[in-house]
Amino acid sequence: MEEKKYAVTIAGGGSTFTPGIVLLLLDHQDRFPIRKITFYDNFAQRQETVAKACQIYLQENAPEIKFDYTTDPQTAFTDVDFVMCHIRVGLYAMREKDEKIPLKYGVLGQETCGPGGIAYGMRSIGGVIEILDYMEKYSPDAWMLNYSNPAAIVAEATRRLRPHSKILNICDMPIDLEEKMANMCGLKSRKEMSVGYYGLNHFGWWHKIEDKDGNDLMPEIRKHMAKNGFADGISTNNQHVEKSWLETFAKAKDVYALDPQTIPNTYLKYYLYPDYVVEHSNPEYTRANEVMDHREKIVFGACQDIIDKGTSKDCGFEADAHAEYIVDLACAIAKNTKEKMLLIVPNEGAIENFDRTAMVEIPCIVGKNGYERIVQGAIPQFQKGLMEQQVSVEKLVVEAWIEGSYQKLWQAITLSKTVPSARVAKLILDDLIIANKDYWPELK
Ligand code: NAD
Ligand code: G6P
Ligand code: MN
Repeated sequence: MEEKKYAVTIAGGGSTFTPGIVLLLLDHQDRFPIRKITFYDNFAQRQETVAKACQIYLQENAPEIKFDYTTDPQTAFTDVDFVMCHIRVGLYAMREKDEKIPLKYGVLGQETCGPGGIAYGMRSIGGVIEILDYMEKYSPDAWMLNYSNPAAIVAEATRRLRPHSKILNICDMPIDLEEKMANMCGLKSRKEMSVGYYGLNHFGWWHKIEDKDGNDLMPEIRKHMAKNGFADGISTNNQHVEKSWLETFAKAKDVYALDPQTIPNTYLKYYLYPDYVVEHSNPEYTRANEVMDHREKIVFGACQDIIDKGTSKDCGFEADAHAEYIVDLACAIAKNTKEKMLLIVPNEGAIENFDRTAMVEIPCIVGKNGYERIVQGAIPQFQKGLMEQQVSVEKLVVEAWIEGSYQKLWQAITLSKTVPSARVAKLILDDLIIANKDYWPELK
């Protein structure tokens, strides 16, 4: 029997990550064969630059794969098996505002954490739901693999609004950190480890890490974390290599110190050391500026270069090795591999002493029919307390979006551990409303 080949639509075709993902997909044709790649975006011009370059690349390297790019939903989502969704509603211009507005009031500005993440969530919900609806209308059997941020809020929104949809939400931060921990233990790959993990997206902890033979790797990892945080494991991929990321990996040492029994996700630094983060921020130049000046320029420069030369030879495109988890996930569904992966899913008792309706990040077994949770048991009071506060923020944001409620959004920002008072929360909220007038539902 001829092997099945898959049709993939990349939503957010104009993303800086798109070329890296296309090259990655080509690298994995042996296990995840593709017959068609389609880009979809709502910003034709931005997408066209990436698409024309990828078209040349594909013609030169995989002419058998059909390629198209479009802003028309019917064309994009008809006859599709997988939608890989990485949109950024409002682009980097709005990320910059998310980061700079809170800083005006002495509160940290971050893409997915604190008021910036809440603002981004209020923009993303509608965008992701719209794409999910297109997918279900034109290809009802397709799966959406979503890594559009803020994944925690997007996941809660899809749980509330589209509970039966075939969407899996996933994040690459734990993957990167697991690579670093594998490196600390002298292993070649994180796939040689078996992990226990619980939390929310960008808000979690490893509580168990073993090698393939069941030997406990935590003592070795703890030694490294206590000394240098994740800085010891720096190695493998070309993402997260800029100075601000290296500082985040080093700061994990102080995050780890709060509970040396577990290994924390780097994003906890924003909740546990917000004063430090503010002191080390430049309100005039944030991560959004860094990304616009570097990644965005590099990717779009390389694309333009390919278009100008009419060839992708020596183009500087690189397969995004760190995104291999996306192929793993698609493969798990397509081939029923039953791979163990961290996903953002409704808790339903997997974390025993935590809200059953919370969207939690835990290990799952993934196969043809979706995922099965791996029970993580009861969690300690410290993590439980932090997670209860943060999950309430996320749930309130989604309620605010659904109901158009100013009150609930004010509560959400007030409840964020990054914000000192209801007064400051209101000042930030009122600024964010003005900045987001083209993107948020009207709040009453
Ligand atoms: P980007 O701005 O370069 O690309 C996003 C693209 O989405 C743009 O071309 C934009 O026009 C498009 N877009 C925006 N709204 C849309 C809509 N409603 N419909 C269709 N297209 C739309 O952004 P980027 O830095 O490449 O990041 C893309 C996304 O991937 C972001 O959400 C980012 O946070 C996320 N991301 C997530 C992870 C993870 O761990 N989950 C890792 C890396 C990036
Ligand atoms: C990690 C996170 C993503 C986030 C990205 C930000 O990979 O898991 O959710 O989008 O970092 O990276 P950037 O380079 O855009 O600041
Ligand atoms: Mn993430």
